[in-house]
Amino acid sequence: MNREVLAEVAAQLVGEGKGVLAADESSPTLTKRFDSLGVTSTEESRRSYREMLFSTPGLSRFISGVIMYDETIHQSVADGTPFPSFLAGSGILPGIKVDTGAKPLAGAPHETVTEGLDGLRDRLSHYRDIGARFAKWRAVIAIGDGIPSGYCLHTNAHALARYAALCQEANIVPIVEPEVMMEGDHSLETCLMTTTETLKKVFDELHDQRVFLGGIILKANMVLPGKDCPEQAPVEEVAAATISCMRAVVPAEVPGIAFLSGGQTDEDASAHLNAMNRTKQRSPWQLTFSYARALQGPALRIWAADQTAIEQAQQALHHRAKMNSLARSGRYSAEAEKLDDVAAHAH
Ligand code: G3H
Repeated sequence: MNREVLAEVAAQLVGEGKGVLAADESSPTLTKRFDSLGVTSTEESRRSYREMLFSTPGLSRFISGVIMYDETIHQSVADGTPFPSFLAGSGILPGIKVDTGAKPLAGAPHETVTEGLDGLRDRLSHYRDIGARFAKWRAVIAIGDGIPSGYCLHTNAHALARYAALCQEANIVPIVEPEVMMEGDHSLETCLMTTTETLKKVFDELHDQRVFLGGIILKANMVLPGKDCPEQAPVEEVAAATISCMRAVVPAEVPGIAFLSGGQTDEDASAHLNAMNRTKQRSPWQLTFSYARALQGPALRIWAADQTAIEQAQQALHHRAKMNSLARSGRYSAEAEKLDDVAAHAH
């Protein structure tokens, strides 16, 4: 493990004004998104969609790294340049999702454990050889009747730490992602308690498994009421609850927290990140984004409706990336949202 390399890549990922584009939907997940918009999912249509995203002019001003899926990291842009070299050439760090998905947890109905540890050492070495500098592993924690169980939290935290240790051995920065899901009608307080407990377990395991905290990025959910909770929370309350949860459990050595969007609207995801960055005076870590849906949504819809509308789709991605970059420093606003949109459409 080379701590300097790890710390440097981690710092780049959460560098000023920048965040991560998660484009690591598995083929089945991207197929579902394509299906809902009437696009046929093939290896080539997935490649061409990702090429549209990755070749967005000016993307590297706002995006430090892109997380890819196994199929994607082995694909190329139309001129034959492999995606990892193409991204690196545009100043964006190539990353790879290495888990193989959340599978039913034996003996625990409605709970999952994320798999992918078998053969991971060899896969990491291959991914590093083809250009990956960071990785992602997502654990899924659902809130419901009597869940999550301690058993589910423990097995997922253990696996996350095993993954993180193996990444660091290969000089790959692990993004450690325990996602507490928004599905359900639970309150913000329940999400706060569950997220706190989850992260505590994760940091205990990372400590026990000797993971170098200066060389990881935490990918966390924001603390929100469930999607079906009748009482939704104002932006400032979400920001305050999320920050207080992170302060309680995330050690100061961690360079950054990159939030997932988790099904929030594009604008909510930007507004929440913005509010956190406006009140971050005493936060020791960078607070940024690692969004999939909240960055890609509008671009995907435009591209799906007309696959020749590359420029408009790229403008839509550029717009969301820029809005979230502003939110990194508390400069996002509804007005910025409108002004940039108008400017994009004037081109
Ligand atoms: O693992 C989760 C994704 O990388 C983030 O996706 O922003 O759509 O929740 P999301």
